[in-house]
Amino acid sequence: MSPLKSKGSHPRPPAGSFGRALRFSLLSAMSVFAAQWVLGAPDMSGAWSIDVSKPWGVTLHTLLELRPEGGSLGGRVFPNGAVAIPIRGAHMEGPDLVFRIDWGWTFHVRPEGANLRVVVGYDGGGKDEALARPVADAALGAAAALPVPEVRDLPDNGLARTPPMGWNSWNHFAESVDDRIVRETADAMVSSGMAAAGYAYVNIDDTWEGGRDAQGNIVPNRKFPDMRALADYVHAKGLRLGIYSSPGPVTCGGYEGSHGHEEQDAKTYAGWGVDYLKYDWCSAGLVYPGAQLRPVYQKMGEAIGRCGRPIVFSLCEYGIADVWKWGPAVGGNLWRTTGDIQDSWKSMSGIGFNQGRLAPYASPGHWNDPDMLEVGNGGMSATEYRTHFSLWCMLAAPLMAGNDLRSMSPETREILTNREVISVDQDALGRQGARLFAKDGVEAWAKPLVGRGVAVGLFNRNAAETTASFSWTQIGRSSTPASVRDLWRHRAIAAADDGFAAAVPAHGVVLLLVK
Ligand code: GLA
Repeated sequence: MSPLKSKGSHPRPPAGSFGRALRFSLLSAMSVFAAQWVLGAPDMSGAWSIDVSKPWGVTLHTLLELRPEGGSLGGRVFPNGAVAIPIRGAHMEGPDLVFRIDWGWTFHVRPEGANLRVVVGYDGGGKDEALARPVADAALGAAAALPVPEVRDLPDNGLARTPPMGWNSWNHFAESVDDRIVRETADAMVSSGMAAAGYAYVNIDDTWEGGRDAQGNIVPNRKFPDMRALADYVHAKGLRLGIYSSPGPVTCGGYEGSHGHEEQDAKTYAGWGVDYLKYDWCSAGLVYPGAQLRPVYQKMGEAIGRCGRPIVFSLCEYGIADVWKWGPAVGGNLWRTTGDIQDSWKSMSGIGFNQGRLAPYASPGHWNDPDMLEVGNGGMSATEYRTHFSLWCMLAAPLMAGNDLRSMSPETREILTNREVISVDQDALGRQGARLFAKDGVEAWAKPLVGRGVAVGLFNRNAAETTASFSWTQIGRSSTPASVRDLWRHRAIAAADDGFAAAVPAHGVVLLLVK
């Protein structure tokens, strides 16, 4: 009955904040506006099914429960019909009942005959519209926690001895990623010189999933007609293929997760030729009690350890529960330390300059991941992108380009392929840089490099140019260094006796190699 309309949305649920925010929201009071629904709104209480059909043959199935609750509006939303998220802040806006769930989704709902007209807006942009039909209350239910393995230390898988380098679809393409884009990105990675500069992984993020076949095998949706063939294509270019899933029943984008199919999914990925798995907590936070992050990740770590193919294991749980302390023990090669990055100076600098305390947890094979790069996506200036790239390299962060490699400007390519800067990131010592000092908006960071001195980044976080300096003693030198090289200008600098001083542009950086 329902003419479902998809508007080609790009849901970018802020899953980074999702798990944590949810814990608070469970306890939070309903909005004071909610009472207006009871007073003035039509009665929409009951259980409803919202089916959003995507052009690539996937129907995102969401159940909605609306009910009066203590003179206010209560209820829950069940993405994928599998996990329950409480409704918050319900109020009337004209004829619409409006509410939000802590998944970055905002609902506008109004009666339409025996149905509801529902518009779901996504925080990161885009929206879907559908008719919701009434269903029996019995349809509402949430997935149960599954047994988890006894906690133990898994062996090091020997991968990612230096921070992984590659590309990930999410920051630029979100839901629009498809087979063609991935192939063309692989082509561009080679033709642009990025592959030669060290980038290897071509990673498909969320929205590739098409559900499960009769045997429970995960299948891609129509955007990805043949994963094996795609992996072959990427491998033939000398590159590697990455994929994405969640330990929960539903991914952050509302697609099928690996819940209860961990072993089977790991085998499927290996059969396709997948080399990298990003495993995103998302709905697992609603299924497993908080303390179970480690065994839940261990479960997939064990599964990919047994799948017969080396697969880099990327944990994405936004830094919950001090993941850097147990990430290596579950087989993790890298772990996100923060919520999702946005393509802005505020977001990037807020994340990047906040990573110093995690330096002790990085080592070859085990990396803190402050999220993927935004270089070239348009929200920052070239100066700011140079700061972004320099900072990530100083942090020994994974370098996952997040832009459209097929159409990048020479300036973006020049930033992403600056080999002198990349060599700071990829240094074999595997030490993460740490802050030397922060004063008046200027920060100096130092990263020790194997047998060849130290990289020093002099960052200006101010909105105006400033002269910044540091002394050789501040980087542990008792005498003038033998050589100082500017890694963005690609030239040697004559070292002054006492230290270094330079004008640093607003939001800019001077990155030095000091020997
Ligand atoms: C979360 C992750 C993002 C991305 C999206 C996909 O928000 O943190 O990096 O993978 O999910 O839905």
